[in-house]
Amino acid sequence: MPSWNIPLSDLDYGQEEMDAVARVLRSKWLSMGPEVESFETEFAAMQGVKYALAVSSATAGLHLAYLAAEIGPGDEVIEPALNFVAAANMTVACGATPVFADVLSLAEPTIDPADVADLITPRTKAVVVMHYGGNLCRMAELLTLCRERNIILIEDACHAVGARYHDALGRSPHGTMAGSIGEIGTFSFFANKNLLTGEGGMIVTNREDLAAKARLLRSHGMTSLTWDRHRGHASTYEVISHGYNYRLDELHAALGRVQLAKLAANNERRRKLLHCYKNAIDSMPGWIMPCGDSIEFSAGHLMVAVAPTPTARDEVVNGLRTSGVQSSLHYPCIADFPAFAKRAHKPLPITREFVSRAITLPLYPTMAQENVTKVRGLIYETATVRKL
Ligand SMILES: Cc1ncc(COP(=O)(O)O)c(C=O)c1O
Repeated sequence: MPSWNIPLSDLDYGQEEMDAVARVLRSKWLSMGPEVESFETEFAAMQGVKYALAVSSATAGLHLAYLAAEIGPGDEVIEPALNFVAAANMTVACGATPVFADVLSLAEPTIDPADVADLITPRTKAVVVMHYGGNLCRMAELLTLCRERNIILIEDACHAVGARYHDALGRSPHGTMAGSIGEIGTFSFFANKNLLTGEGGMIVTNREDLAAKARLLRSHGMTSLTWDRHRGHASTYEVISHGYNYRLDELHAALGRVQLAKLAANNERRRKLLHCYKNAIDSMPGWIMPCGDSIEFSAGHLMVAVAPTPTARDEVVNGLRTSGVQSSLHYPCIADFPAFAKRAHKPLPITREFVSRAITLPLYPTMAQENVTKVRGLIYETATVRKL
């Protein structure tokens, strides 16, 4: 395993997580049961939603969300090309076609509602949005558009756990949390997320019909769980649909409950570090910090900077690597991956420009402020030395 002086992300785990795991081990019940139920109840309360369903990953959650929304062969799903590949892969898994929309700008790299409107056809079944880096998409416009056209709005909210929706004026008209604004939303608890358990995810919705379908398909289309039978709530089961095993287990749920309790403070810490980065980025000519003016509304999942040119970005990446600082790119353009490039896609000029100039820098709640200062200094040095 490479060891970085400053890694891209790190987890905030301590005695509470160890105790939670030990509690489950002592209980001798490992598969979906009381810890999962409590995790779902606590997550639903944090979200202010009626239904939260724990799943084995966000990818599984997206698959269930799409199936619950009856996305299938012949349907088109409009989604950003600037995203992790899961949403697009699950679109294909349902037999539907991903139709990639561009993002708004280098400063606001979330799906462009005007582009979405242009891409709608009679075959459009759903729009899947992704709150890039923890910064919410323009949900008011997207909601109106989708309601007018009878299209289901799904949120890939993997970056945005704990973020509350605000409109362009900073108001919170719906008081809703990211993931609960559209019809159905999904979260990831992968090892680099704000709330992390290694693997795991959550689906949230206020719609009973969607929750019921997703719950059924999560466990083989069976009418009861092993846990229900163990505690005497059922003695047998029927299989009333063709489903999957997308269940979460007790160990991950117990970790999730501890992490959920830490979420608000950890997101606050992330925002504080983002402000610290922003001061430096703002002083570098030609550099942009996406959504840097609305940090207070963000979940603060990623620290991304956009360099003036692709060469400047690559120089900074190399300079950081030489100093033992890990960086990354969120994300390559999905439409350019070989598995997706076979299909024709509309030009995605802003996404491609963003991908050629963006860099993701270290950010995690346990990161020392002096390490942010170090990273800032290294970038500043590389970016300015180059100009001399
Ligand atoms: C935006 C986004 N969507 C989907 C996923 C998939 O999540 P999981 O690994 O839990 O399946 C991720 C995880 O990296 C993600 O960042």
